[in-house]
Amino acid sequence: MTVHLKSPQEIKKMRIAGELGSEVLDFITPFVKPGVTTGELDALCHDYMLNVQNTVPAPLNYQPPGYSPYPKSICTSVNHQVCHGVPGEKKLKSGDIINIDVTVIKDGYHGDTSRMYYVGEPTIQARRLCEITYESMWLGIEEIKPEKHLGDIGYAIQSFAESLGCSVVKEFCGHGIGTKFHEDPQVLHYGHTGTGLQLKPGMIFTVEPMINSGKASIRQMADGWTIVTKDHSLSAQWEHTVLVTETGYEVLTLSAGVPPKPKFRF
Ligand code: MF3
Ligand code: CO
Ligand code: CO
Repeated sequence: MTVHLKSPQEIKKMRIAGELGSEVLDFITPFVKPGVTTGELDALCHDYMLNVQNTVPAPLNYQPPGYSPYPKSICTSVNHQVCHGVPGEKKLKSGDIINIDVTVIKDGYHGDTSRMYYVGEPTIQARRLCEITYESMWLGIEEIKPEKHLGDIGYAIQSFAESLGCSVVKEFCGHGIGTKFHEDPQVLHYGHTGTGLQLKPGMIFTVEPMINSGKASIRQMADGWTIVTKDHSLSAQWEHTVLVTETGYEVLTLSAGVPPKPKFRF
């Protein structure tokens, strides 16, 4: 495994890409309403990236080994969809929760971030899951500093989510990111403290836990992309792209509309 440490010039470009990714999520926020289709949200984001930002939507035609080319510019994962939901004709309805995952490329560098949105009024259970997932992502991020291990991040996320009766999806993970969309290291959202790769200043990777309200098992849909919970329980995900600094971390996917760090409950 080769983990590329980014130079100061590269970090500047990653900061710009990260902010632009987050700004797409800000832009789409007022459109996430009952009656809109996920396909319409995709088209709005696509046009914004191309025509306003001059960025490239990294998902469009993205094709990892064993996959068909991804057909859209963002991922929209609704309710029991875990990740990689493909935008389409389905209308959102009040009470739905949706993850919108955006990755832009600017000047050759990637910014990858996702948030949960409530469509109308969420149920108490849906709100609780989204909040637990947000807090779990931030507990993972708060572990990040030189000499800490990737397992510290995974442990913080898993122990918190499981203590509240939720489960962690194990098949997908955070990832190094830079000129490539997905690069080393893999950032598992479960694990044990003091294990795994040691963090070094200049590493950039995502933290993007997928947390289910029911069991952890997942299934892939016939479209070859959309992942759902096997038991159809709700699933939530949040994602930031993060730099390891000399003293800790810097979140790169920041913009005016990014939600504040949570009030930690324990
Ligand atoms: N943005 C996703 C991630 O966080 C990856 C989506 S791949 C796609 O890693 F092809 F589905 F867009
Ligand atoms: Co990612
Ligand atoms: Co993403």
